[in-house]
Amino acid sequence: MEKFVIMGGRKLAGTIRVSGAKNAALPILAATLLTGTVSVLHEVPLLKDVRCMLELLQYLGAKVTVQGKTVTIDTSTATSQRVSEDLMRKMRASNLVLGPLLSRFHCAKVSYPGGCAIGSRPMDLHLKGFRQMGAEITEKYGYIMARVPGGLRGAEIHLDFPSVGATENIMMAAVLARGRTIIRNPAREPEIVDLQNYLNLAGAKIKGAGTDVIKIDGVEELKPVEHTIIPDRIEAGTHMVAAAVTRGDVTLTNVIPEHLEAVTAKLREAGVTVETGDDWIRVRGGGELRAVDIKTLPYPGFPTDMQAQMMVLAAVARGTSIISESIFENRFKHVDELRRMGADIKIEGRVAVVKGVSHLSGAYLEASDLRAGAALVIAGLAAEDVTVIENIEHIDRGYENLEHKYSALGARIIRVNGGERYFDKR
Ligand code: EPZ
Repeated sequence: MEKFVIMGGRKLAGTIRVSGAKNAALPILAATLLTGTVSVLHEVPLLKDVRCMLELLQYLGAKVTVQGKTVTIDTSTATSQRVSEDLMRKMRASNLVLGPLLSRFHCAKVSYPGGCAIGSRPMDLHLKGFRQMGAEITEKYGYIMARVPGGLRGAEIHLDFPSVGATENIMMAAVLARGRTIIRNPAREPEIVDLQNYLNLAGAKIKGAGTDVIKIDGVEELKPVEHTIIPDRIEAGTHMVAAAVTRGDVTLTNVIPEHLEAVTAKLREAGVTVETGDDWIRVRGGGELRAVDIKTLPYPGFPTDMQAQMMVLAAVARGTSIISESIFENRFKHVDELRRMGADIKIEGRVAVVKGVSHLSGAYLEASDLRAGAALVIAGLAAEDVTVIENIEHIDRGYENLEHKYSALGARIIRVNGGERYFDKR
């Protein structure tokens, strides 16, 4: 099992280019199943989760070629609608093939995607939308069987919660359905706008992504398309916090600053200097960090995917921060690990009370999920001595070559294979 070994205490300084957005690439890769032809996608981040989705598409019969950050997918040869269980369980986002398979082939059989450390993550809103569009859905032995012999028909769907995945799955299903589908109370994340843009380039008729009503008029077929994935706002936010807690001076390129407004506002409130341009953000963490209160919300509120990273800043800020996690029921797995480093954090249900301490100390830690793992890297960079992080495969799911990106900014971080324990402070 690979580990990160970090010798903290160094300021991050320099320029870092942000990769394409994982959470835009995954639904767009699933959407290629709708076209039945060739899609050329640029700025695809070659992460574990993306490779898993490419493996899934190949399992379904698609042809995939990868050249650097450009991926070409031909789904004319995709036939099977049955997705293998082990592939499905590898990654939650595999559930995003259900809508495209149902829309194009009128039937699909997928296994329940793996829940993960942050919560149960059901699919009831996805399935409720498909049923409203005429699909017969049965759930048995951990499988979802969906069929709609006559093809999906447009429907007016109100989401009980602005679920990102449900919005994307229903939007994709509606593209080849008969008639108009209206999604009310959809998620408004930028990744959904990027999915709309990809699909409209392929000939779909979608309006309103990013607003509180999305309208999709079904079409007969789609055409070949070339598209560039938007930058990853969560990767960018992660680097912004790393610059802040190491008191560094880092410029991010290939970013869309308006996608990060909630994060930028919080960092400025905490005393961090943040300057923004058209496609760059400069973060300087010179002064004292101040406590901030955070409540995670659907976009454009503060993103749940940045909660763990901001908790590291709160852990070393002056004062007490209240951090409320309203999106997932179990997204505080990083707290125990931060406590090992000397953080003073109390959990009351979905609320964390974080009392800032003067500094964090290095420790032997375990990553439990993608963003918690990224938070531990940030904490290791800020700590005065050595930190070892196990289970870094979680981090590789969402960050491309993170150790190289931070080493280029002056951090001392290396990836090592299994082997001996560097020290055991437990
Ligand atoms: C997407 O997950 C992201 N993943 C997550 O990012 C992100 O944390 C999440 O949206 C929220 O922003 C991808 O885009 C691949 P949801 P998703 O459906 O679609 C409940 C990362 O770190 N819910 O908006 O699964 C659900 O349990 C990952 O990159 C239902 O109850 O999120 C959760 O509590 C982690 N029923 C809440 O809604 C449903 O049918 C938000 O889930 C669907 C969701």
